[in-house]
Amino acid sequence: MSAERIPCALLGAGGYIGQHFLRLLAGHPEFELTALLGGRRTATRRIEELWSLEGEAPTEFARRRIGIASPTRLSRSGERVVFSALPSGTAGAIESELLRRGISVFTNAADHREDARTSLLLPEVNGERFRRRRSRTPVLLANPNCTATGLALALAPVSSLLRPQLVVVSSYQALSGAGLDGLTRLRSPPNVIPFIEGEEPKVIRETRRLLGPALGRSALEANCARVPVRDGHLEAVLVKAAGRPSTPELFRGWSRFTPLADWECPSAPDAPVVVRREEDRPQPLLDLWAGTPVQARGMAVTVGRVRWEPPYLRFFLLLHNAVRGGAGGSVLNAEYALARGWLTHRS
Ligand SMILES: NC(=O)c1ccc[n+]([C@@H]2O[C@H](COP(=O)([O-])OP(=O)(O)OC[C@H]3O[C@@H](n4cnc5c(N)ncnc54)[C@H](OP(=O)(O)O)[C@@H]3O)[C@@H](O)[C@H]2O)c1
Repeated sequence: MSAERIPCALLGAGGYIGQHFLRLLAGHPEFELTALLGGRRTATRRIEELWSLEGEAPTEFARRRIGIASPTRLSRSGERVVFSALPSGTAGAIESELLRRGISVFTNAADHREDARTSLLLPEVNGERFRRRRSRTPVLLANPNCTATGLALALAPVSSLLRPQLVVVSSYQALSGAGLDGLTRLRSPPNVIPFIEGEEPKVIRETRRLLGPALGRSALEANCARVPVRDGHLEAVLVKAAGRPSTPELFRGWSRFTPLADWECPSAPDAPVVVRREEDRPQPLLDLWAGTPVQARGMAVTVGRVRWEPPYLRFFLLLHNAVRGGAGGSVLNAEYALARGWLTHRS
């Protein structure tokens, strides 16, 4: 084990988000996955047997076997940082117990997102709100719902110009948003389901919490549908605005949005919002992996089809649900926590 990297455990290592964590943390300069843990179906299996992402499993993990997750086992094995890809509902109690035992948790699950002890963190959007956080205490940091992540990233750079009165988002969400079980629907006849359990209230509450004062008292509405696409959530956004920026001011707002430029976060994209001018973009097949440098592929939101006819702004956005909206969001949160001095668990 490198003396420089922080030893970490991964919960839910065999699931869809778990496998994205493995891809993103293979060879990571700051974090080293020393324990891969899962539930009953995946424990004892090798990563290469379960691999469902494109390409081969990373060589550093391919032949490793998944162990059974338990807080007691983690306390004994010594990792002080845990990445969690547990299902919502299961995650809550386990993550609370880990925090109680002094272990910092970076989670994808929804259970603690509205908890007073947890920070719902999207560093570019609300990172500065935590600048006075005390270091040397364990953290429980949740990344937001994937649809809310895309919406908040796209609105944050332009909300002070627009002063929204109403925001309506309609989402076209990929099958992988429902995990490995969702992907089995790729084998069924293509269909659109205009219902994703619990999604619309989550998008509204979390977007509001992330943007805070920038949304003021504006009304926020969401309609979420599952579409037969493997990865990538597309969102159609309508904003009724009180502000009257010029079109170039709006585009400058997005292109100059670089709030993490001064922080050392290897997974942070140089430009978190990429704007496409073509009339048929963004598309899941073409824009899923937006984000530079190479470690930040899939970490940027793509905005396109921008139409500004005051008081209405209309645009589409696309986000990789499992990277920026999932595992990559947690990895960036951990990098940000380390850069801010909130993590003190170097080996
Ligand atoms: N998919 C996305 O795009 C996305 C985006 C953002 C957030 N999320 C969130 O990320 C989390 C994981 O989602 P997913 O899509 O990866 O689901 P998934 O493919 O169903 O994977 C869940 C994994 O959790 C493991 N697990 C279940 N109970 C466990 C336990 N008690 N201890 C240890 N491992 C356990 C499962 O292993 P066994 O099969 O062995 O039980 C499975 O490998 C969820 O909270 C989800 O809401 C997902």
